[in-house]
Amino acid sequence: MDLPPVINEAFVLVHLVGMAILVGSFILKMRAKSDFPFTLMIWGASIQLVTGTILVGLTYMSGDAPDNLKITVKALLATGALVAAILGSKRQKKGEPRLQPFFHAAGGLAFISLIIAVLWDAELYV
Ligand code: HEM
Repeated sequence: MDLPPVINEAFVLVHLVGMAILVGSFILKMRAKSDFPFTLMIWGASIQLVTGTILVGLTYMSGDAPDNLKITVKALLATGALVAAILGSKRQKKGEPRLQPFFHAAGGLAFISLIIAVLWDAELYV
């Protein structure tokens, strides 16, 4: 089915905003020892999963096929980031200590996903 390209680009835009929220909140608090922004990270990871899935659907609708291995790896990493942020947020609300591993897991997985998104097709080995 032929959709106007602006529809795909609009979802890419929201996908990049989700990435900025998720990766940005990690970079901002990377050296912090408390007050981790888990709620923002939950929003960011959720936006990535929803808009990413829509982008995959739009790719199939246009008659193309996405790189399924790349998408699977990104989906697993985004899900891991979401789970880590939810677990961290629950512990934070209960006032539990040792939240940093959850924050770094969520941010680290998101950052790896960003590297994969940009460099997967870069043919670094050639
Ligand atoms: C933390 C998680 C994620 C990050 C940081 C991320 C980041 C990005 C970035 C930066 C781009 C643009 C890349 C480029 O054009 O060179 C992109 C595109 C894309 N992402 Fe993600 N992504 C994430 C999760 C996901 C998930 C979970 C899916 C699918 C379920 C997905 C599907 C896509 C698709 C299909 C595109 C291509 C859009 C297009 O150019 O038409 N992403 N992503």
